[in-house]
Amino acid sequence: MFSLAIDGTDQVVAARKEESLLDACLTQGVPLPYNCRSGECGECLARLVRGKVRELPGADPAIFSDEMRRDGMILTCMCYPETDVVVSVPLRATSHPQIQHFDAVIERVKWFGERTAQVTMRCPTPISFRSGQYFEWFAPGTSSARSYSASNRPGSTQLEFLVRIYPGGRVSSLLQRHELAAGDIVSLRGPFGSYVFNPDDPGAAIFVAGGTGLAPVKSIVESALSSETSRKLILFYGTRNMQELGCAEELQQWAGQYPQLQFIPVLSDEPEKSDWPGRRGTVVDIMKNELGEQFGAQAYLCGPPPMVDLATAVLERSGLSRADIYCDKFVPAVSSEA
Ligand code: FES
Repeated sequence: MFSLAIDGTDQVVAARKEESLLDACLTQGVPLPYNCRSGECGECLARLVRGKVRELPGADPAIFSDEMRRDGMILTCMCYPETDVVVSVPLRATSHPQIQHFDAVIERVKWFGERTAQVTMRCPTPISFRSGQYFEWFAPGTSSARSYSASNRPGSTQLEFLVRIYPGGRVSSLLQRHELAAGDIVSLRGPFGSYVFNPDDPGAAIFVAGGTGLAPVKSIVESALSSETSRKLILFYGTRNMQELGCAEELQQWAGQYPQLQFIPVLSDEPEKSDWPGRRGTVVDIMKNELGEQFGAQAYLCGPPPMVDLATAVLERSGLSRADIYCDKFVPAVSSEA
């Protein structure tokens, strides 16, 4: 066990060799900045003031270069302590909800087609999290964690998730074989993630979600509606067919109930002859055609990386600044869980 100190503050935490500097801080209540926890966003950038760390490979060279390494910078999510360590990093003004490790019981697994499962769990006590955050699952028999965003709003003992089924994925296989089913216990750790949504902001909020990327977006929209926000909420949701659209049933109901919510589902692979009366094509193309100019708005994107990248470009052309576009790319971790 080593010590990890934040330079210029009185914050010191215990750091284990097998835990990233970022996770050591988050689990002990020190509000380090972060987003992805996997070397892709650069938000956890810090200066190594003293000590030695081991860096995992895999950081995106576009956001963390060798020159930065030579300059003494580190990504706290990719580095593990080898000695006592001191880092210099600006702490976040607002603290994250405390990260907890707890067991939850699966109450229900509901399928929407073959690729999407909605898993509802019951926790022993209400879990504190912010809409848009995610939890790590340690399913029985799995050695590594998988991350899933909660799709319901905070405040109850229930947690609801949307799980995308990948061929060969460990959690996917357990669900498909019904080896992970109602009554089973899953060990959870979280919440993680730093999506920021302010229901009092005057601008419109534009959401673009693909597949199970709907989960954090649905949680944010549900919280916003329950806070009686007057913000205009425009949600473009892309999925393949009507079966998969079932996981957005509540959103369709809310759109009928709350005039400030505009819900625009888009199906990319619905059979031509079906009775689907809505939009067909890709969610980004539909957004490009229908959104119009949007000054002062903020956007929240969640889904596969190509969708997020294309949607970002379209939104910038529609008048949003890059700083007002919050992205959460879903990258499958099939190899790590297989
Ligand atoms: S690079 Fe995203 S949190 Fe570290």
